[in-house]
Amino acid sequence: MESQSCNGAFEVTKVSNLNCIDLSADIQKSVTLLKQACLDCGFFYVVNHGLSQEFMDEVFDQSRRFFTLPLREKMKLLRNEKHRGYTPLLDELLDPDNQVHGDYKEGYYIGVEVPGDDPEANKPFYGPNIWPSTDILPGWRDTMEKYHQKALDVAKSVARIIALALDLDIDFFDKPEMLGKPITTVRLLHYGGDVSNPSEGMFGAGAHSDYGLITLLATDDVLGLQICKDKNTKPQVWEYVPPIKGAFIVNLGDMLERWSNCIFKSTLHRVLGNGQERYSIAYFVEPSHECLVECLPSCKSEENPPKFPPIKCATYLSQRYKDTHADLTVYKTQVSGGGPITGCD
Ligand code: OGA
Ligand code: NI
Repeated sequence: MESQSCNGAFEVTKVSNLNCIDLSADIQKSVTLLKQACLDCGFFYVVNHGLSQEFMDEVFDQSRRFFTLPLREKMKLLRNEKHRGYTPLLDELLDPDNQVHGDYKEGYYIGVEVPGDDPEANKPFYGPNIWPSTDILPGWRDTMEKYHQKALDVAKSVARIIALALDLDIDFFDKPEMLGKPITTVRLLHYGGDVSNPSEGMFGAGAHSDYGLITLLATDDVLGLQICKDKNTKPQVWEYVPPIKGAFIVNLGDMLERWSNCIFKSTLHRVLGNGQERYSIAYFVEPSHECLVECLPSCKSEENPPKFPPIKCATYLSQRYKDTHADLTVYKTQVSGGGPITGCD
């Protein structure tokens, strides 16, 4: 693929050629392909996952309906301490060393729905969601709750293949402390059509790796996601991951890198805006709050001792969210009407 750079010269844009895991195929074949992908870059496509195109279209339509609302309506649903709700333009700063502002994207977090009076709601990542009113967005909650359930089924199927690829029992990640009681989050994302400029520190989403076990990413057909297979190569080489209709792009998170003692990679990725509006939906999959993420027996030896100390999932996640999101107090004036946020209304 060729693209024109700012000074008018043509430069080659690299495009990744990722393995494709077919969930309806023979599982041993999938284990081989997935293992290869996880050792290489931790990104792969997943097809025949059981979610119909009609349903995916419905989820994207509902997402578009939300982001099209006036900014003042969206700000009424601003993210809370439990990481539920709306994240405005520039709210998130993923790569402070290379970004001048926050990300040029807006988002909406939907977590596991736990009623406020349930004792489980005391856990940092459990609680009631913030839902747009049914008068404004009829059917919205239904669609998103259905997506939560269906995406978890896909994630569990992928986790079984990962378990086999790590020489673990097939149901290793199905245990109660793992995906039996997971922390899962749907995050709707909208990139408004800004053109990113890496040399000036402007990105749709800054370079980062995801925090958890895996992420399932659904995108529209606009190119934007890039991966960097080796973060230590200077200058860094970025490759586009082109969308494939109907496929999830799946990537491994940092918890799996810790579990596997860096044998499986959680690769740096970012989003560049090219002037076109873009929608994507991330589904972040993490184990239970109490799960201790520690080096797997099959991934350590005398020559290769654990690189990370064990850490509780909830502790690790809380720190990662705190490091990357604006302090909620910056919105105090904006929610009451006086804030300086512009640009997505
Ligand atoms: C993310 C992410 C990529 C995209 O939300 O963590 O990497 O294409 N999103 O929106
Ligand atoms: Ni990501």
